Amino acid sequence: MKNDLLKMLDLSKEDIIEILDLADQLKYERKHGIPHPILANKTLAMIFEKNSTRTRVSFETGMYQLGGHALMLNGKDSQIGRGEPTEDTARVLSRYCDGIMIRTYSQAEVELLAKYADIPVINGLTDFAHPCQVLADLMTVREHQAQLEGLKLCFIGDGNNMANSLIVGGLKVGMDVSVACPKGYEPDEEVLEFARSFKGGKHFTLVRDPLEAAKGADVVFTDVWASMGQEEQQQTRRRVFKKYQVNDQLMAVTNPGCMVQHCLPAHRGEEITEEVFEGHADEIFDEAENRLHAQKAVLVLLMGKK
Ligand code: CP
Ligand code: NVA
Repeated sequence: MKNDLLKMLDLSKEDIIEILDLADQLKYERKHGIPHPILANKTLAMIFEKNSTRTRVSFETGMYQLGGHALMLNGKDSQIGRGEPTEDTARVLSRYCDGIMIRTYSQAEVELLAKYADIPVINGLTDFAHPCQVLADLMTVREHQAQLEGLKLCFIGDGNNMANSLIVGGLKVGMDVSVACPKGYEPDEEVLEFARSFKGGKHFTLVRDPLEAAKGADVVFTDVWASMGQEEQQQTRRRVFKKYQVNDQLMAVTNPGCMVQHCLPAHRGEEITEEVFEGHADEIFDEAENRLHAQKAVLVLLMGKK
């Protein structure tokens, strides 16, 4: 595994499985009250330039459970918000801390931070990627379905950070991936290139019709129609995405026992109906819980090296 977690494209299948196996073990230890202070005396700096509930709480709690400490740097009230160059922030934090988690807009900023930091950098969401979420998602699917290989993963909606990361993560672990999105809202070109060339493109489909994408699915994912930073497009997107909803009609064409996953927060009545959400709430909140365990595994693998 590389020294940072910046995007799913950087992980091999073996890296992903190693993270999921360790996450399962850490979850077991947590449930059975077995202490695991693997990162004692280590500190994680968390930079947030966008809102968060799950990412913040799971990283902070995770570091505490690993015997370490996490500190929050709000973009607005640190010098980052006053324009201190990323290159300098990276080098300063490297002198105090043992790892950096960052949630921001641009993937390039995260890559720059990692280039200048001497300590591991973890992407806690950018406009391009959300690898921590997808590791928790794969962990949850494997937990519920006992396997990943050969399952069909379907994503309905915007070709956003979640779609980008799920496509890559799903394909790498041996799933078939289908995506339905409106014209003009496709996943990132770099991701599409990867998906179309992965094993000759045999395991990936991109269509306009949500029912076509969902047919025979073992797990359906969706996400908000307007992501953080796209608030002013909300009205337009409500119109464009109207038929990209996970509802009973869509679930009817999936495989029996098909799971539903949502990274949250969810907008009921938009990308998912109240009925489908509540019918699959256990799976969705397992997914939220698994952020904690999957990220602890990432922290251990990246920050526990020496
Ligand atoms: N899913 C997710 O990343 O949630 P937060 O925005 O609350 O961190
Ligand atoms: N696509 C969403 C995910 C939130 C966790 C966003 O970027 O806002």
